[in-house]
Amino acid sequence: MQLQNHDAAVDLERVFGTFHQVFSPRRVAHVNDQVVKLARVRGEFVWHSHQHTDELFLVQSGELEVRYRDRTVRLGPGQLHVVPRGVEHMTYAAEECRILLVERAGTVNTGEVDGGSLTAETEPFVTG
Ligand code: NI
Repeated sequence: MQLQNHDAAVDLERVFGTFHQVFSPRRVAHVNDQVVKLARVRGEFVWHSHQHTDELFLVQSGELEVRYRDRTVRLGPGQLHVVPRGVEHMTYAAEECRILLVERAGTVNTGEVDGGSLTAETEPFVTG
């Protein structure tokens, strides 16, 4: 694992400029046993849950829906929401949306379901 740089700011705009694929998160920081990631999302993700971690979503740009089976939470820029561990959810974005995520390190983005091509590989670490 690449070590994070404790001597400089992590510029989120710069990191977003290094990748353009959707559902392909980049790690930008580790905090204790949690990891901070940036991702671009568009369209529907898959229904899934994470048994061992809460999942924080903070919208940087665009609009994101966090859908539960019985309700939907809508987020705009500067708004965050935490999905509790073990609760089934999916995200939806009509247009491309840029998000920051916080979750336990090693979490599979599609949880316990077979996400097929939506399941991300271990995310590259991007510094600066
Ligand atoms: Ni999730």
